[in-house]
Amino acid sequence: MPRVLSCIQPSGAVHLGNYLGALRNWVSGQDEADAFHGIVDLHALTSVQEPGVIGAQTVELAAVLFAVGLDPERATVFVQSHVPEHARLAWLMECTVSYGELSRMTQFKDKTAKGGTEFVPAGLFTYPALQAADILLYDTDQVPVGDDQRQHIEITRDIAVRFNQRYGEVFRLPEAVVPKAGARVMDLQEPSNKMSKSSSAESGIIYLMDAPSVITKKFKRAVTDSENEVRYDRAEKPGVSNLLDILAACTGGDPEALAGEFTQYGALKVAAAEAVVAMLEPIQSRYAELMEDRAELARLLGIGAGKAHAVASATYRRATEAIGFLPAG
Ligand code: TYM
Repeated sequence: MPRVLSCIQPSGAVHLGNYLGALRNWVSGQDEADAFHGIVDLHALTSVQEPGVIGAQTVELAAVLFAVGLDPERATVFVQSHVPEHARLAWLMECTVSYGELSRMTQFKDKTAKGGTEFVPAGLFTYPALQAADILLYDTDQVPVGDDQRQHIEITRDIAVRFNQRYGEVFRLPEAVVPKAGARVMDLQEPSNKMSKSSSAESGIIYLMDAPSVITKKFKRAVTDSENEVRYDRAEKPGVSNLLDILAACTGGDPEALAGEFTQYGALKVAAAEAVVAMLEPIQSRYAELMEDRAELARLLGIGAGKAHAVASATYRRATEAIGFLPAG
């Protein structure tokens, strides 16, 4: 059985891009694989610094993960900071990746491009080393992610290859698994940018817990273009193509074929909104139920931490033994 691992940050409310690009595949993957899914609170510390906020968002995110269909009996859902080997292996990864490689990461370049006086934590720069640790600790074969994470999986492979060359075969090489539809959901207001927790305008983001009326309104206001032709063309018609992509991802259709079914932008927006509302309704009601019992969520995360720790500690030991640190006497 292949080993699957993927993670999500508790750094803001979960949105449609997270769901279509990643979470949905995590749920389907738990049947065919030994699945591990982390709520990566250490990563979230690069962007969330108010005391208590990350912890509160971690519980909510756990409820979302179970509400979308991760089954605690089959998938291991855990919190990154509950498994100390993540931070420990991250240091070994930092010593295996170069400054130059980290400097070329597009996410770091994008997030720091604005310049200015904003505080840029060093953790934002070394972030890919921690992510490599997340993945390599679990002897991962497949990493189901959205398109924006491809570069992070590539650098993880490079780090693993270098470590294995230096110290012997310790790490398994993972590969990214990206869905056919929904791998890159774009912002409804700025369809040339991906839908992202850090976007400025809320109106461009569909949150998983948005009320149906809010979802409908956001789709109605989605930016399209000044033509009047429904055609799938990501470069020339990013807004319309995004709506077709979302509709395709929700209904299992093909965006190009779906374009032929619409003559007007308005009807396409309504269809996309209806498909999203129908898809999210059962998730929203399960989420509400799960949030009623936080003790149960904490219990499930405790079980997940135990299972994750068993795997991660064995891998970490393999890595330190291969390096040959002097064992504590
Ligand atoms: P994060 O928390 O930003 O996003 C979680 C998942 O959602 C996907 N995603 C999208 N997919 C399609 N369209 C979008 N607009 C969109 N926005 C986000 C992401 O690709 C991701 O799969 N660095 C990671 C977290 C991480 C991780 C890991 C992932 C830490 N360690 C180990 C995999 C394996 C991140 O910030 O994801």
